[in-house]
Amino acid sequence: MATRILVTGGTGYIGSHTTVELQQADYEVVSIDNLSNSNIGVLDGIESITGIRPFFEQVDCTDKQALRAVFEKYPGIRAIINFAASKAVGESVQKPLLYYRNNLVTLLNLLELMPEFGVEGFVFSSSCTVYGQPDHLPVNEDTPIKPATSPYGNTKQICEEIITDAVHAQAPYKAVLLRYFNPIGAHPSAKIGELPLGVPQNLIPFVTQTAAGIRECLSVFGDDYNTPDGSCIRDYIHVVDLAKAHVAAVGRMLSGKSQAPVEVFNLGTGRGLSVLEVIDTFQKVTGVRLNYKIVGRREGDIEQVWADPTRANRVLGWKAESSVEETLLSAWHWQQQLGKNNK
Ligand code: WQD
Repeated sequence: MATRILVTGGTGYIGSHTTVELQQADYEVVSIDNLSNSNIGVLDGIESITGIRPFFEQVDCTDKQALRAVFEKYPGIRAIINFAASKAVGESVQKPLLYYRNNLVTLLNLLELMPEFGVEGFVFSSSCTVYGQPDHLPVNEDTPIKPATSPYGNTKQICEEIITDAVHAQAPYKAVLLRYFNPIGAHPSAKIGELPLGVPQNLIPFVTQTAAGIRECLSVFGDDYNTPDGSCIRDYIHVVDLAKAHVAAVGRMLSGKSQAPVEVFNLGTGRGLSVLEVIDTFQKVTGVRLNYKIVGRREGDIEQVWADPTRANRVLGWKAESSVEETLLSAWHWQQQLGKNNK
């Protein structure tokens, strides 16, 4: 009997890629999503890659009764990976209550239902945002948490505290907090990838849409930072590498290897790349010239952050394998596939 995993936000960008990797590691996936920021057609993409269509229920995780019905319909769920959350930094500043309600009530509902249905493990989708602008780089998991600079980042910090407090109050499950750096790229099959709704907020979808002629010009938000070329530095990690880390985390938790009731891992490459370096690399690997201009800084941006991933490498036995060239090419191939699909 395959081990059954519940993936919330399962038709989203990281949720869909993680579903593929879970299925290819012989887990059985129950996927739920409210489809507020994703498309049910993603299930076709997942099935076309793995040959297995995940069980799917359209559910809003803030609706506890609807969530309970999922556990009743699919007994034996051993672990949950929680991606379901609102995640746009800028939007969270405009709509803080929507972010606090959605992200916190979702978490509380899941944690309250887990003991009722004997769920043993919880993987939380956290973010390097919790570190703010670190005083020292690279950041490891003991780097101090700084006051959040957005309601979105604050929900991540609060959720980590809620999980830690629940587990330390002897909740009958273990937890893993995965702090993502900047997930980018798409599955090499180009059958699933990032599907931003409307004007992309993140750099890479804006880059690929500019290269595809969908956007006229890419704006680089500032080149007057205290970095070698003046533009901001981030740790860009291939979404498939990120997905594989989730499989490693679930396996570790369910096999009883966890050394503590709550474990924390930074999921990054350990390599920092500036915005201008991303643009230069993208142009080199795709042969497409990008139309871009330097504009003013974006409010809330931090200057530079990248991971020290040695704990995840050593303890999870996981390492980001993709080069930035491969990763940017995968994003471009996905964009080209989208163009073909929309013809
Ligand atoms: C990266 C760099 C921008 C767009 C956020 C969240 C993080 C995670 C990933 C959810 C910055 C610059 C961007 C553009 C630009 N989200 N940029 N022009 O802000 O590092 O991280 O998304 O998990 O939690 O905080 O990602 O891709 O928006 O920006 O110059 O059109 O690209 O200023 O320096 P960010 P990003």
